Amino acid sequence: MDARMRIERMLEKTVAQAAQDVCPPGLAAAVNHAVFPGGARVRPMLCLGVAAACAGAPTATSVAAAVAIELLHCASLVHDDLPCFDDADMRRGKPSVHRAFSEPIAVLTGDALIVLAFDSLARSCADAPQLLPSLLSILARATGMSGGLVAGQAWESEANVPVSLYHAAKTGSMFVAAVKAGAASIGGDAKAWEEFGASLGEAYQVADDIRDASSSADEIGKPVGRDALLGRPNAIHQLGLSGAKEHLDRLIERALAAIPTCPGADDLKMQVRQQVRWFVPKAKAQVAA
Ligand code: IPE
Ligand code: IPE
Ligand code: MG
Ligand code: MG
Repeated sequence: MDARMRIERMLEKTVAQAAQDVCPPGLAAAVNHAVFPGGARVRPMLCLGVAAACAGAPTATSVAAAVAIELLHCASLVHDDLPCFDDADMRRGKPSVHRAFSEPIAVLTGDALIVLAFDSLARSCADAPQLLPSLLSILARATGMSGGLVAGQAWESEANVPVSLYHAAKTGSMFVAAVKAGAASIGGDAKAWEEFGASLGEAYQVADDIRDASSSADEIGKPVGRDALLGRPNAIHQLGLSGAKEHLDRLIERALAAIPTCPGADDLKMQVRQQVRWFVPKAKAQVAA
């Protein structure tokens, strides 16, 4: 089974198990809506890519960590779309969770997905319990109030927003978690991967900022122009379109250069180049226009 398939199968199993028994049916349906069908699954694929680069192949623990990261990411999207944050009606080409269900159910869906991420990781690490503390800590730090997803949303309520901290918290954190968890899942040196994850995450947010300013909602499956409307700090506002594109190219090169020496470094570089090709070209075409 290839990496993407392993991720989907375990996501399906994890969500189905959580929705059993006494889970309120509306909440179960909303959680399912938030996770399936997925988007690009960039973060879990990155996690497995790093595990494979370090150890030849991802382990069951790597897949469990990758799935937990995708569940946290899905939670962040549900909360991010709420009226009190970005007030977005569409996500992944369909109604966002609060539009399809209700606002209370969307708040609870995000909460449930965060808890499920940690629960599923804890339960899946029975074969390698010695890895669990470091994996839980990597995920918790990427989620929490100091530099994690929660901090990312909270920066939007501050009068002065340091853009780099905002981007690192709302997006970089999950990329850092993905690469560190990939290494930690095979008993490797997680810290050595931090710079790669941070640079790639920053690049991803710059590409998203470019898409927000220059794509259509049909193309990207979510509303566009939100950053300008909501006054969010954004790479385009800071650097202009061509400046943002140059910054994006530099960040990708910085990320590739930060990949630590490991048996599969060349394959991983190829995988990253292929992945960035799909999120960069449209943005580049628009920027060049
Ligand atoms: C959207 O992430 C939020 C950002 C950090 C830009 P993705 O672009 O990875 O969203 P999906 O998971 O593919 O829908
Ligand atoms: C990205 O925030 C990070 C999170 C959702 C946590 P954005 O607000 O820029 O992402 P999109 O554009 O809604 O996907
Ligand atoms: Mg947002
Ligand atoms: Mg948003």
